[in-house]
Amino acid sequence: IPGRHSRGMKLLLLLSVGLGLAWTLQDFSPEQVIGSWETLKLASNDRSVVEEEGAYECFMTGIALLDNGNLNVSYFHRKDGKYVKEFYVAEKTDTPGRYTFEYHGKNYLTFVAVTEEFAIIDLENQRDGEPLIVVELHGRTQEEGKLGMAHYRRQTARRGILPSNIVDVFLKRPCATQE
Ligand SMILES: *[C@@H]1O[C@H](CO)[C@@H](O)[C@H](O)[C@H]1NC(C)=O
Repeated sequence: IPGRHSRGMKLLLLLSVGLGLAWTLQDFSPEQVIGSWETLKLASNDRSVVEEEGAYECFMTGIALLDNGNLNVSYFHRKDGKYVKEFYVAEKTDTPGRYTFEYHGKNYLTFVAVTEEFAIIDLENQRDGEPLIVVELHGRTQEEGKLGMAHYRRQTARRGILPSNIVDVFLKRPCATQE
């Protein structure tokens, strides 16, 4: 039935565009991302969410793998001028490297690039039907994280995020202010 076939194709296309399946890692394994991390950059199509005390201003400190394959993500965020340590559980999906979690609605978390030195995470939240996108650059150390910059810029450009919407958060992290 040609009509049904093309509707199916269209749906598949929409899904793959909407969920960014094009960037999913084919060879992702969660073991690659466990351990400690430092957040270098945050970018969004809505800059206010990654600015000071914004809803997505986060300083990721570590990822642990739970027995059921989900990830326990620890991070600091700022609230009323103080750093608060929190964690969320990212639930695995059928797509390797893609997780979901609830925070102001449903979020899709996708590992776009992972090396021994850096990790790039793409977050998408469908709030009010309009996608909010956040792209994060994390490094095992600051120096190692810098190796991901070219890839990070490509991902933000691909997501239509302006270079002026990339926020350097490394010096804002909690231990930087305590030093
Ligand atoms: C996630 O890790 C934190 C420590 O960073 C721990 O307190 C918490 O119990 C863990 N949560 C789960 C569901 O394992």
